[in-house]
Amino acid sequence: MPLSQLIISLQIHPSKTSFIQRLMRILINSGFIATKNNINNDDNEVEYLLTDSSMLLLKNNPLSMTPFVLLSLDPVMIKPWHQLSTWLMKNDCDGDRDRMPFETEHGIILWDYASRVPKLNLLFNDVTARDAQLVSSLLLGDEKWKEVFEGLESLVDVGGGTGTMTMAIAKSFPKMSCVVFDLPHVVAGFQGNDENLKYVGGNMFEAIPPCDAILLKWILHDWNDKECMNILMKCKEAITKKGKKGKVIIIDMVVDDEDNNNKKDDEVETQLFFDMLMMVEVGGKERSKKESIHLTNDATFRHTANSGHPCPEPLK
Ligand SMILES: C[S@@+](CC[C@H](N)C(=O)[O-])C[C@H]1O[C@@H](n2cnc3c(N)ncnc32)[C@H](O)[C@@H]1O
Repeated sequence: MPLSQLIISLQIHPSKTSFIQRLMRILINSGFIATKNNINNDDNEVEYLLTDSSMLLLKNNPLSMTPFVLLSLDPVMIKPWHQLSTWLMKNDCDGDRDRMPFETEHGIILWDYASRVPKLNLLFNDVTARDAQLVSSLLLGDEKWKEVFEGLESLVDVGGGTGTMTMAIAKSFPKMSCVVFDLPHVVAGFQGNDENLKYVGGNMFEAIPPCDAILLKWILHDWNDKECMNILMKCKEAITKKGKKGKVIIIDMVVDDEDNNNKKDDEVETQLFFDMLMMVEVGGKERSKKESIHLTNDATFRHTANSGHPCPEPLK
C-alpha cells in the first residue's frame, strides 16, 4: 500500500507522516519491505510491499515469528545484556554452574522466572509452539527423518513445551503412545487425547517417565556440558527401565566452527546470535558437531545411522 494508506491503517497522527517514511526507508534497506516499481496510483505515491521476511511477522501466518521477536525484545530478556560487562568481570559460580547474566539481572533462572510471571510463560510457550510447527512439518514431511520414529511404542518429548511437536508426532504415529513432559507450570491446564497423547509435569533432572524413545528438541542448547550430561543420564535411565535399549533423538542447531571461519552468511549469523542468546539468558550453548558427539559419547550413547553423525557401530 502507499504511504498515505499506511498512515490511515496504522492510525498514525498526520503530523508523524515524515517519521513513518523514515522508518519505512530503513525497513526497505533491511529487506523487510520492498517497493513497487510501477507506480500507477493517482498520487504517484511509492507503494510498499511485504517481503518473505515481513511475511513471517504477519499475525495470521501459522509460522509467524512475531512471538519470538516480542520475546527477544521484552525488557525482561533485554536487561540481562546490560549485565554482560559486570558478569564477565566476576566469578559467580553456584556449584557446577556459572550464574548467567539473566540471573545477575533477575536473581533467578529463566525457567523459574517463567513459572512466576504468567505473561512470560505464555509468550515463551508461544515462541516454542511456532517453532515446533515449522520443525514438525519438515521432520514429518520427509520420509528420511520420519523413519527415526518408526517402530517405537512410546515416546516422551522432554521439555516438550505445550506439545505442538508431540501432537504432530502422535497424529502421524497413532499406535505410539506419546507424552509431553515439561515443568508443571508449562503443562498446567493442557490435556492430551484419549488415544495416544498425555501431558506430564515434572523435572527432567529428577526423573523422566520410562519409554522407548526420548525427544530432546531445543533442550541441550539451554544447558552447560555438566547439566547436559545429567539430562542424558536421566534419559538413559528412562529408556532402559523397560529392559529395552531405547534411543534419544536430539534436535538442536549445529554450529560448524571450521566452516564458519570463511562464512558470513545469515545462517551463521543466526547460529552465533543464538549462541550469545544461550550464554546470556540460560547458560547453555550452541554446539558444533564435534562437541555434540563428545557429549553423547561421554554419556555412553551410540549414534544411529540416520543421526547425521558418524556411526561408530551400526545400530542392531
Ligand atoms: C527451548 S524450550 C524447548 C521447547 C520444545 N522442546 C520445543 O522445541 O518447542 C525448553 C523447554 O524446556 C523446559 N524445561 C526447562 N527446565 C526443565 C526441567 N527441569 N524439566 C523439564 N522441562 C524443563 C522449559 O519449560 C521449555 O519448555
